[in-house]
Amino acid sequence: MKVFYTKVALNTYLDTHKKNKQIGFIPTMGALHEGHLSLLKKCNEENDISVVSIFVNPTQFDNPADLLKYPKTFQDDTKILESAQCDVLFAPDVKEIYAENITATSFDFEGLEHEMEGRFRIGHFDGVGTVVKRLFEIVAPNKAYFGEKDFQQLQIVKKMTQKQQLPLEVKGCNIHRAKNGLAMSSRNSRLTKAHLKAAPFIFKTLQKVKMKFETEAPNTIIEWVEKEFEKQSLLTLEYFTIADEKTLKNIKNKDEKTQYRAFIAVFAGEIRLIDNIQI
Ligand code: PAF
Repeated sequence: MKVFYTKVALNTYLDTHKKNKQIGFIPTMGALHEGHLSLLKKCNEENDISVVSIFVNPTQFDNPADLLKYPKTFQDDTKILESAQCDVLFAPDVKEIYAENITATSFDFEGLEHEMEGRFRIGHFDGVGTVVKRLFEIVAPNKAYFGEKDFQQLQIVKKMTQKQQLPLEVKGCNIHRAKNGLAMSSRNSRLTKAHLKAAPFIFKTLQKVKMKFETEAPNTIIEWVEKEFEKQSLLTLEYFTIADEKTLKNIKNKDEKTQYRAFIAVFAGEIRLIDNIQI
């Protein structure tokens, strides 16, 4: 695996391959887990060269404490990527991406940014849009891979790519889960033992929601979820909502042609976990 820290070094290498090779790209913030590896597996299957970036993007953290505490495991990540047949690791520092101006551009994602995470993490999606656009411009991949755990992020990146007419395909990949159903996340490594034990309740609840959605009204389901979480001493519900998968707008009336998804954000102690399920 080649490791590059600068745009110039990365591009010098990639430019020699771009003409006749498909390049797949997975942007990450490191603290890699099996979810990332499932993206890499898909990327390897569909491309000639797989590029993974590790960059903890300061402009997408609405909470500075969260940025400071974000797990940094670069040595381990490098080994994991090497053994999972990653071809290129791009690991720029903040200056390489932002120069002296560490600020996010303001985007219009046609309303996608105002729902769910957008309500609770002000400015988060401008930060994501800024860094993903820059990384896409630097790596210039044919395809890029994102996990559906961050489903709103995936829709926003698709929207940005389409609006900015960036010449690549953005692909969403299924959520990778532990055997107990907990969605893989870099944040899971910061959970206490007790919270780790409690957290699978999130997906168990989403599975029940999926069943209930066949016969029950959305508002009844929302009330039920809120009550279920009131009984949990270690988990605090931030939001639960059922939305149209395309617009991410809350469901008003169910209609046969629309695909819906249930979305949830929960605090397990001070760690914020999100998950979703297609229903
Ligand atoms: O999902 C993430 O890890 C980040 O939001 C991303 C896409 C790498 C941008 O910093």
